[in-house]
Amino acid sequence: MAPSGPRPALPALLVLLAALLPVSEAQVHLALGDQKLNHTITYGFDSLSAKASVKGTAEEEGTQRLFCAVILGNQSQETRKTVTVYSFPVPKVILSEPEVSEGTEVIVKCEAHPRAMVMLNGVPAQTLGPRAQLRLKARPEDDGRNFSCSATLEVAGQVVHKNQTRELRVLYGPQLDEKDCPRNWTWPENSQQTPTCQAWGNPSPQLKCLKDGTLALPIGKSVTVTRDLAGTYLCRATSTRGEVTCEVTVNVVNLPSPQYVMVIIALVVTAAVLGTAGIAIYLYNRQRKIRKYRLQQAQNGTPMKPITQATPP
Ligand SMILES: *[C@@H]1O[C@H](CO)[C@@H](O)[C@H](O)[C@H]1NC(C)=O
Ligand SMILES: *[C@@H]1O[C@H](CO)[C@@H](O)[C@H](O)[C@H]1NC(C)=O
Ligand SMILES: *[C@@H]1O[C@H](CO)[C@@H](O)[C@H](O)[C@H]1NC(C)=O
Ligand SMILES: *[C@@H]1O[C@H](CO)[C@@H](O)[C@H](O)[C@H]1NC(C)=O
Ligand SMILES: *[C@@H]1O[C@H](CO)[C@@H](O)[C@H](O)[C@H]1NC(C)=O
Repeated sequence: MAPSGPRPALPALLVLLAALLPVSEAQVHLALGDQKLNHTITYGFDSLSAKASVKGTAEEEGTQRLFCAVILGNQSQETRKTVTVYSFPVPKVILSEPEVSEGTEVIVKCEAHPRAMVMLNGVPAQTLGPRAQLRLKARPEDDGRNFSCSATLEVAGQVVHKNQTRELRVLYGPQLDEKDCPRNWTWPENSQQTPTCQAWGNPSPQLKCLKDGTLALPIGKSVTVTRDLAGTYLCRATSTRGEVTCEVTVNVVNLPSPQYVMVIIALVVTAAVLGTAGIAIYLYNRQRKIRKYRLQQAQNGTPMKPITQATPP
């Protein structure tokens, strides 16, 4: 297979100590395979570092020898390392169609490097190898579902990982579920309420709820409930995929209004005042009667002075 996709750059960094001569005298040779590398040298007090950048190409895929030699005076030091050049393109998620109608069968494929292991949505491939696939019948809930292909490849004892995700679009609807568009509201008059009704679908449907063909239910807006709000509304969800309707009834119940409560309080207060006044008058009269009675008793018993005085001798 001809490798494709991005290849990692290969940096090589080698340090050598030279004790006897100034390091600036040193000569450096850097090579990858039989290709001489263009390097830049950074000098320290008694060290140097040579850096070269290599772009891996398809021809170089595989294992190569990196060679570095430093020559200082009549001394020479050299070192060798193994470098692995590999190609690992991002795995591919292939949807038979990126956008399908509800009920359509969709095939999702995951393809990767021949030596890679793949997982599609976290499930390892059934067969050994770089391919995985799944079939599904597109449902409304699959709209926006992501399919992810994840591939791992072992390179020179290390595991490298790459993945790709694609989103499926399912065209469906419109829908007016009772769960998201309740059919019956009962609200107290003068309370603050927000009528809610959610229509589902892809593309997003337009929703209108009308009473008598003209009065709109203020969906999603907070309103003060009046008697005018009561009634049966016809909700209609429309999209390019068709239309559905449902009836939504608003019942307005009459709880005592604040004015009504005031009137009741006024009546209770008046009754209390009148009652108290009545009791007061009753007690006053009783008291007067008792006094009159005592007076009479006094008159019938020992005669009183003023009476005696009043009687002529
Ligand atoms: C090395 O670098 C020099 C100058 O930076 C450039 O002219 C030359 O083409 C380079 N050689 C290689 C093989 O990259
Ligand atoms: C390197 O040169 C030094 C003198 O500059 C000499 O003493 C030494 O023997 C030489 N070493 C070798 C390995 O030739
Ligand atoms: C799918 O991925 C997109 C973008 O990465 C993200 O916005 C969306 O929420 C994901 N969908 C689900 C159902 O997780
Ligand atoms: C997919 O790859 C990206 C970047 O390589 C990484 O951040 C992410 O965690 C990976 N996702 C999964 C599900 O492995
Ligand atoms: C709507 O709710 C009210 C009060 O909860 C109830 O009396 C009425 O029967 C309900 N109507 C329907 C159609 O369910």
